[in-house]
Amino acid sequence: MNNIGEADLKLLQELYPQKYPKLIKKLAHHYPIQYLIGYVDFYNLKIKVNKHVLIPRFETELLIEKTLAYLQTKNYQSLLDIGTGSGAIAIALQKNLNLKVDACDISSKALKVAQENAQLNNVNINFFKLDILKDIPPKKYDCLISNPPYVKKDEIVSPETKYEPQKALYAKNNGLEFYERILNIAPLILTPPASIIFEIGASQKDAITKMVLKVYPKATIHVAQDFNNLDRFMFITI
Ligand SMILES: C[S@@+](CC[C@H](N)C(=O)[O-])C[C@H]1O[C@@H](n2cnc3c(N)ncnc32)[C@H](O)[C@@H]1O
Repeated sequence: MNNIGEADLKLLQELYPQKYPKLIKKLAHHYPIQYLIGYVDFYNLKIKVNKHVLIPRFETELLIEKTLAYLQTKNYQSLLDIGTGSGAIAIALQKNLNLKVDACDISSKALKVAQENAQLNNVNINFFKLDILKDIPPKKYDCLISNPPYVKKDEIVSPETKYEPQKALYAKNNGLEFYERILNIAPLILTPPASIIFEIGASQKDAITKMVLKVYPKATIHVAQDFNNLDRFMFITI
């Protein structure tokens, strides 16, 4: 979780001068300051957040930067963001790319926030509700992107995450169930030449690579690192 900076505290005090002492107590219990402020800056965009959505992480901004560079070498028309949450990924990509972005999530409450964020940032995105573990998106795309839930049961996480939607964080099968499912249904959703882009957990590269090669033996896989030099992003070209 993001550390609390002086600037954030100052902003909180400006926004809620009277409630400030109470809010400081909440912070002492690890309540995320982003939920108190009500929005985050994400890739130069203002993204509203509340307890129904995961707070977009700095690493995901890096995912956007790397995805924009990667997609510049492609000529894609359409992209689907799976597990959009606040809509941060979909909105940042739609703002910076000339392709049609759709986005889905299992949570109606998250989708409502994502819709509001799209309006706030003046982009047109088709959001729809879908359980990716059970259903198959109804349209075909050139590119799938996902920062799915990938935390393993029992993994040590920062204390603030207990206030975030647990459905946004945890995944079965050692945190791998969403990658496996998305890869297994990818042939039904993608029209090659196409790509799949994942944010991944730091220890998941090898397991996900195996899953990719099982479905797409000829895929080209590029793994990129985060600020701590950990393997956190996977770009799969099929
Ligand atoms: C790690 S969060 C990512 C949120 C946002 N894309 C981001 O990067 O900040 C994962 C998202 O997947 C959604 N999700 C969880 N289970 C899902 C499912 N079965 N089908 C579709 N979305 C799901 C959660 O509601 C959550 O918004």
